[in-house]
Amino acid sequence: MTAPKKLFIKTYGCQMNVYDSERMAEALGGQGYSEVKSADEADMILLNTCHIREKAAEKVYSELGRFKKLKAEKPDLKIGVAGCVAQAEGQEIMRRQPLVDLVVGPQSYHRLPEMEEKARAGEKVLDTDFPEEDKFEKLKRRPKATRGPTAFLTVQEGCDKFCAFCVVPYTRGAEVSRPADRILTEARDLVERGVREITLLGQNVNAYHGAGANGDLTLAQLIWELDKVDGLERIRFTTSHPNDMMDDLIEAHGTCKKLMPYLHLPVQAGSDKILKRMNRSHTAESYLRLIERIRAARPDILISGDFIVGFPEETEEDFQATLDLVEEVKYGTAYSFKYSTRPGTPAAERPQVNPAEADDRLQRLQALLTRQQREIQDSMVGREVGVLFEKPGRQPGQMLGKSDYLHAVHVADCDRKAGDLARVRIVSSRTNSLAGELID
Ligand code: SAH
Ligand code: SF4
Ligand code: F3S
Repeated sequence: MTAPKKLFIKTYGCQMNVYDSERMAEALGGQGYSEVKSADEADMILLNTCHIREKAAEKVYSELGRFKKLKAEKPDLKIGVAGCVAQAEGQEIMRRQPLVDLVVGPQSYHRLPEMEEKARAGEKVLDTDFPEEDKFEKLKRRPKATRGPTAFLTVQEGCDKFCAFCVVPYTRGAEVSRPADRILTEARDLVERGVREITLLGQNVNAYHGAGANGDLTLAQLIWELDKVDGLERIRFTTSHPNDMMDDLIEAHGTCKKLMPYLHLPVQAGSDKILKRMNRSHTAESYLRLIERIRAARPDILISGDFIVGFPEETEEDFQATLDLVEEVKYGTAYSFKYSTRPGTPAAERPQVNPAEADDRLQRLQALLTRQQREIQDSMVGREVGVLFEKPGRQPGQMLGKSDYLHAVHVADCDRKAGDLARVRIVSSRTNSLAGELID
């Protein structure tokens, strides 16, 4: 038997890339690869990339440049680029960086084993097709040892919304939902390996409409099917679009005990003029009413969001509308970005906001969001929450986990192990975490 080859994968971008990296590692496991934690020891390096903002995409080229020396020392080393930069700039990557042997787009991961063989034989290989076949079905999970208590599971991929700033519809393609039975089989398999919490993933996860035994299922119906899986304790999903927040999903937040009280619901901006130009097809008002309905179903739900400032033609007044919306919603966490021009998207051609102004707006928005986040975190002190423990902390006897609301919680002198769920009373709030004690 030949010695196992070593694979190093570096993952950028969203949770879907984290999930995909795992599946790629499993696919290459069949080719005799085992994963290692550093590029230096690898026989193959894969960068799983993100194209969402310019900075994210540029990182790939600087990272690749760093492998030059490694490749000179080890001519057999194979270097591959996967993910959304691969999809968007496949040919250009090969041109700009000759040390790249393999480029694979997100829809072609099931073809990796054959691509690896060709690369080993000295060929340059590129596959950025959107093939018809179901990559997840071909990327069957291999028998694998136990794993941590939380896992991602992709249920829907791609997007048909075409927000004017966004590359996702181009890099991930049209919206596709996986059939429910495959998702349930995968979920049961994860639970058998020790998983207690599953986060369902999709670029537009609440548009899920996968085939079931009696017609298509909504995301809420899929969640209710998962609710029946013994041993699965918690269900989350991300990312949702406000326009696909169906009644049955809102209701599930009130009635499904396994569905956690946390919802990531990006709004992007608070000005109707900007929302329209972003092609978001919701208004600030319709978003606020939606949040009201969600809170009526589940009053303690923690709302998370995404924001873009400095979108083309955003005025100070438009930006104020974003601040007003944030004041009204009160976000438990949020991600905010300065608009980044993405070639090929409709907004790229429009008059751009002065970068210094956009920076200033971003700082003001982030100051407000950070204050809200801290207030909501502090308000947890004295409350009882569920915590799923994930790993030991730095102090002896300490355990770390996540609350129902996704806050990091640490408990001292804790006799529980990873994978245990417990009731915890929150006793104090620090910068990025809460401290709690077990309630017997
Ligand atoms: N599917 C999700 C999010 C996709 S990308 C949704 O519909 O909201 C994650 C976040 O990146 C977006 O919500 C947006 O806030 C941000 N983003 C996307 N394109 C961007 C761009 N060109 N410049 C800056 N931020 C961007
Ligand atoms: Fe991008 Fe808009 Fe689709 Fe989200 S909904 S992935 S922001 S195009
Ligand atoms: Fe980035 Fe692609 Fe995800 S662009 S955010 S890795 S879908």
